[in-house]
Amino acid sequence: MLTLKTEDLSAVQLQDYLQYAIAPRPICFASTIDHDGNINLSPFSFFNMFSTKPPICVFSPARRVRDNTTKHTLENVLQVKECVINIVNYDMVQQMSLTSTEYVKGINEFEKAGFTMLKSDLVKPPRVAEAPVQFECVVNQVIPLGDQHGAGNLILAEVKLIHINEDILNSEGKIDQHKIDLVARLGGDWYCRVTEDNLFKVAKPLAKLGIGVDALPKSVRLSKVLTGNDLGMLGNVEHLPGDDDVDLIALKPEVKEVLDATIGDATNRERELHELAKSLLKQGNIEFALKVVLL
Ligand SMILES: Cc1cc2nc3c(=O)[nH]c(=O)nc-3n(C[C@H](O)[C@H](O)[C@H](O)COP(=O)(O)O)c2cc1C
Repeated sequence: MLTLKTEDLSAVQLQDYLQYAIAPRPICFASTIDHDGNINLSPFSFFNMFSTKPPICVFSPARRVRDNTTKHTLENVLQVKECVINIVNYDMVQQMSLTSTEYVKGINEFEKAGFTMLKSDLVKPPRVAEAPVQFECVVNQVIPLGDQHGAGNLILAEVKLIHINEDILNSEGKIDQHKIDLVARLGGDWYCRVTEDNLFKVAKPLAKLGIGVDALPKSVRLSKVLTGNDLGMLGNVEHLPGDDDVDLIALKPEVKEVLDATIGDATNRERELHELAKSLLKQGNIEFALKVVLL
């Protein structure tokens, strides 16, 4: 492995390694206003939610790596402690990128990028009408992380109002992960889009206590066929099945076929049973797969 001491790296190198690896990052499309009423709109991918109640999001306009100057967004929230965090979908991505141009102070990036200003209900900065979700926030705290080139400034924004375009809701009134069409920032110029073909679910293990991978027999843990993901699914069951249940599985036609074809050939039997278990796991049939690997 390449191991790097951060103190030996320049700000540009650090930015590169960190941003390519810590990705994808959600995008906070922040609208802010200064005390003269000048409106600003800029994207920030150093962003996430950090608390549900109170609902707190944090984003970070950093000091410019190039010349150590500060960003208008930071200057604005220090003057007027409010912002709107707009969520960016795929249809907005090119215009959003345009707003990150370093226009001089006082230039309204809504106009430059062709976005529609929508009056907020509680705060002074306007919302981006095109954004599928808009969070009206008050800024509770601004925490500078340093005074050097590239130093971040954490803006702790408490969400007070949430506006959601009804087109992205499902029949239960919740946000449909398929419909929101999110984009996220990666390293350099890379972005990704959350589409049907790259969405998948992993059931939360909170509801039950999984036995753990360490409870599986060594031959399963060291399998050349089963991957870490396969072992993670097997380790998430609540109990190892009893011997009788495992024996019964030998009567299933697909299992019997493997057993009959590998009589006296222990190595191939294990490999083929693990392959069968792997395909059962792919179909979500975890209990069956576990019995197969325990045979
Ligand atoms: C998708 C995207 C994400 C960005 N994320 C950040 C970020 O997290 N922090 C930052 O300082 N700059 C970030 N930038 C750059 C700022 O948007 C850019 O410096 C912008 O001009 C700042 O505008 P302002 O001076 O009007 O606040 C990002 C740019 C893009 C396109």
